[in-house]
Amino acid sequence: MEKVRVNLKKTEDRSYEILIGEDILKKIPLDLKNKKTVHSYVIISDSNVASLYGQKLLKGLTNSGLNSHLISFPAGEVHKDRDTKARIEDEMSKLKIGRDSCVIALGGGVVGDVAGFVAATYNRGIPYIQVPTTLVACVDSSIGGKAAVDTPYGKNLIGAFYQPWRVYIDVNTLRTLHEKEIREGLAEVIKYGVIKDKNLFEYLEKNIDHIFSFNTDALIHIIKRGCEIKGQVVELDEKESNLRKILNFGHTIGHAIENISDYKISHGEAISMGMVTEGKIALELGFWKLDGYERLVSLFNKTGLPTKPPHSLDLSRMINAMKLDKKARQRRIEMVLPRKIGAMVEVDGSYGIKIEEGLIRSILESS
Ligand SMILES: NC(=O)c1ccc[n+]([C@@H]2O[C@H](COP(=O)([O-])OP(=O)(O)OC[C@H]3O[C@@H](n4cnc5c(N)ncnc54)[C@H](O)[C@@H]3O)[C@@H](O)[C@H]2O)c1
Ligand SMILES: [Zn+2]
Repeated sequence: MEKVRVNLKKTEDRSYEILIGEDILKKIPLDLKNKKTVHSYVIISDSNVASLYGQKLLKGLTNSGLNSHLISFPAGEVHKDRDTKARIEDEMSKLKIGRDSCVIALGGGVVGDVAGFVAATYNRGIPYIQVPTTLVACVDSSIGGKAAVDTPYGKNLIGAFYQPWRVYIDVNTLRTLHEKEIREGLAEVIKYGVIKDKNLFEYLEKNIDHIFSFNTDALIHIIKRGCEIKGQVVELDEKESNLRKILNFGHTIGHAIENISDYKISHGEAISMGMVTEGKIALELGFWKLDGYERLVSLFNKTGLPTKPPHSLDLSRMINAMKLDKKARQRRIEMVLPRKIGAMVEVDGSYGIKIEEGLIRSILESS
């Protein structure tokens, strides 16, 4: 037998910068002009964000002499699908967008996920820039390189790991968001406090009102910490072999709640309920003290996020959904649990802890 070896072990620097501030949107054209030789830019956005900020960004790029286009699709999670991706790709092909082009994802997490996935596969991959415009996108979906679309069989089932080339966060764009969208993002920021940063948690306890009144310093502070925490975790464990699992705090139960409510309960609300319920499990197992749990509940109350799953949700369906979750191993339910505000429990070097179904059931029954 003859043997030919294809040697692919190479180290590639995929590091990128996240720029956060006021009026960043206006500064993007000049920054890009000085940074990279790109033949054309394709802004991908949804119908809401395209009219709020897309046209302005397009004008700014064009006025700076950068060859640019804007492609938008209808807003909403229902459009985060393969059809939307294909339509965008066809439009890009019609525009003769080549390999020397760059995608700009301008919008919330839906836009970031679709545009990132388009960039990952168009011409076998072209660079992309994230310009997140929701708090969720600023602190979560724009960092970490997960891009995907939903299918009738589940959320985020088809996708890729694909890191952006840059991230620009203009906190002024958040001012047009509804309070509900701010709460959605805060659920993830509170999670970062619990899993990694007690100072961030304390900051939130003291400054929730400033965030809801769009105080620039407060927004920049929490977004910067959020990006740093998610960035550090992803740097150490990009493909989620262990440490990255801590980002799933509240998500084992949260995803099950979202799923069996047919997504009527939003992600932020579901993970808040999930974090409190998983926090109760950690309390029951003696991992953390009542004080930490009570502070968590009280911060969610202050933020206006729910802490208990509605009684109308069927417990057996909820547990079944947890067993079918991507994170479950051999249908054993796994969770990450807090040790105190700012640190998670590690058992035998692993953050993922197998939890008995009976315990989850009894905690949920008593909620
Ligand atoms: N890739 C990841 O790691 C990751 C992480 C978390 C979430 N996600 C994904 O992100 C999505 C949720 O993101 P989202 O909460 O940003 O939802 P979204 O993108 O649907 O945005 C919510 C709504 O706000 C509108 N909007 C966006 N920016 C606005 C602005 N500045 N002013 C006014 N309206 C604005 C949008 O048009 C939309 O109607 C989900 O699909 C989820 O799966 C991905
Ligand atoms: Zn989440």
